[in-house]
Amino acid sequence: MKLFLDTADIQEIRTVNAWGVLDGVTTNPTLFGKTQGMTYDEVIKLICGITKGPVSAEVVADDVEGMLKEGRHFAKLADNVYVKVPMSENGLEAMSRFRAEGIRTNCTLIFSANQGLLAAKAGASLLSPFVGRLDDINEEGMTVIRELVEIVTIHELETEVLTASVRHPRHVTDAALAGSHIATLPFKIFQQMASHPLTDKGIVQFKKDWEAARAAADASAKSGAAKKES
Ligand code: E4P
Repeated sequence: MKLFLDTADIQEIRTVNAWGVLDGVTTNPTLFGKTQGMTYDEVIKLICGITKGPVSAEVVADDVEGMLKEGRHFAKLADNVYVKVPMSENGLEAMSRFRAEGIRTNCTLIFSANQGLLAAKAGASLLSPFVGRLDDINEEGMTVIRELVEIVTIHELETEVLTASVRHPRHVTDAALAGSHIATLPFKIFQQMASHPLTDKGIVQFKKDWEAARAAADASAKSGAAKKES
């Protein structure tokens, strides 16, 4: 399964990219709002210079012509830009027109398998169901992932399911087991996935044991040398 970072923070992207596990990046207006001192275009270009994987840039217009104008602009910023379009009737039309122009899209704000099916038929390259936001309203977000993966597989649709709105590492495991092609995660979840208290404990213990073994070996070498001299 591919792992994307869900952030517009350049330092976070550089860090996970350096780990060798970064397959792409998703941004949205909320995440861009957390950055400072750069335009959205500058942020997107910078991210595309770090990863060659898909980088999603989200439109904010809600009419078709507005979405097309913003999306065409984003698509010119770099070859790996995917235009993120919210699920809606206008969004479907925009995605279908982007497809005709060869511009790849990520359909965002998907909350049901049927929305995902429509987005796939309209030509979205990526389908982003939001699991965390469904869990937040007492629904089972992972059910939508399972259903959508099955629909895409059964009907051999040319699209990928991107599990979004990930809130904790268990979401990543469940999405992987459900066959989700991609999951996009906040930086904190990458860190949580890398860590385990028993790993930390083991590292401390191995270091301690290594130092004790070295000290014992040094002491024995010294006493051997002293015996030779006497
Ligand atoms: C995905 O592309 C979205 O940016 C993101 O996953 C939304 O997550 P949230 O529900 O935590 O805002």
